[in-house]
Amino acid sequence: MTRQLHLNAFLMTVGHHEAAWRLPESDPFAHLDVQHYVRLARIAERGKLDSLFLADSPVLWNSVGHRPSGGLEPTVLLTALAGATERIGLIATASTSYNEPYNLARRFASLDHVSGGRAGWNVVTTAGPDAARNFNLDDQPAHRDRYARAAEFVDVSRKLWDSWEDDAALGDKANGVWGDDTKIHPAGHTGEYFQVAGALNVPRSPQGHPLLVQAGSSEDGKALAARYADAVFTAQQTLEDAQAFYADLKRRALAEGRDPDTVKILPGIVPAIGSTQAEALALEEELEQLIKPEYALRQLAQTLKLDPSALHLDRELPDDLPDEDEIEAAKSRYTLIVELARRERLTVRQLIGRLGGGRGHRTFAGTPEQVADAIQHWFDNGAADGFNIMAPVLPSGLEVFVDQVVPILQRRGLFRTEYTTRTLRDHYGLPRPAGVLKSSA
Ligand SMILES: Cc1cc2nc3c(=O)[nH]c(=O)nc-3n(C[C@H](O)[C@H](O)[C@H](O)COP(=O)(O)O)c2cc1C
Repeated sequence: MTRQLHLNAFLMTVGHHEAAWRLPESDPFAHLDVQHYVRLARIAERGKLDSLFLADSPVLWNSVGHRPSGGLEPTVLLTALAGATERIGLIATASTSYNEPYNLARRFASLDHVSGGRAGWNVVTTAGPDAARNFNLDDQPAHRDRYARAAEFVDVSRKLWDSWEDDAALGDKANGVWGDDTKIHPAGHTGEYFQVAGALNVPRSPQGHPLLVQAGSSEDGKALAARYADAVFTAQQTLEDAQAFYADLKRRALAEGRDPDTVKILPGIVPAIGSTQAEALALEEELEQLIKPEYALRQLAQTLKLDPSALHLDRELPDDLPDEDEIEAAKSRYTLIVELARRERLTVRQLIGRLGGGRGHRTFAGTPEQVADAIQHWFDNGAADGFNIMAPVLPSGLEVFVDQVVPILQRRGLFRTEYTTRTLRDHYGLPRPAGVLKSSA
């Protein structure tokens, strides 16, 4: 079969554009309404998309003045969506810095059972000091330490998921034997960050391990992805950068002894779609006009580790900015933003407009045909195995993508016309982890 795209719907409140909530069509409180997400999930499933994805951080992100804030916890929300859908994968973000492996391994194994094998975990280290202050700390642990903890966290989680052999539960009524104790293998983990006896209190789940996603693109982020990730979400602005990232990550996966095809790389795209290009550009323009620059400027200053007074809306970024080495929060996003501003010589106002669309993800305005071409171009040229679709406005942006772009990709033979598989791993063409070898073997 020819290589096919993997498409994930990254859902965010009423759209990825920070001003989407101000459009006449948007309900500013929709992000607290489970029916809003049920509707989005069903649209994505109608389009045969591989998966849905919810971002998260254990902190109140940004100022509440700015955009809809304070959302539902993703694994809770995805549990509700599991009951409202049948095939689509369900990926939740959870932090390795501010959780314990036993809790999270249990939660994702549970979601995998509840959904019949459709759970995925976006493993993040959580950038910024604000979240740290919610967890008994004065500041965030160093970037390197957060990633070292993340690696051990995933190791422990995998031990826990494998602590039951697939056939440990017997339910043998005749002999009065419910399960086979010899098929339970406690984690017995003692490491630098965690001490976990195991076994998990959930039997092995349909996928064995939920799909693992990684979304940090710093050196440490890429190392973690190469070792563990089944899929990688990434923000890339240019074809050349995306190709370099793609080649680098596939090479690193090979060096880890993995088949590079089993690591799916999915850059984000924020498509503003219109029946003509002028209509698409007008939608972008309408959204940009609704941005309140004073909020956005404060946020940009925080990302760049500057005092807001150092930024002027109608000037370019100051020359003297910190190196990526000095950034302890989100390293790769910092570099992307600075490079975007410098490459295109954007004023702060223009940069804010670009970031308002997708926080550094690639924005693209065009007709359905042009969006399909943009997707295919990166897919055919070693830059992507698929895309994270980040509709600027929800539900309308996802609806138009599913109804008008997906059929073009299907006609080109680039995307499935029906689900032919059941689990999320199957949708992504990935094997089910074997787990512990049978004790009788
Ligand atoms: C598509 C995408 C989604 C992300 N979602 C989250 C998220 O939900 N929560 C979070 O803390 N970080 C999220 N991140 C950020 C990364 O996981 C990471 O924390 C950040 O890029 C810093 O990592 P780095 O220093 O390795 O670049 C996301 C990144 C991408 C590309």
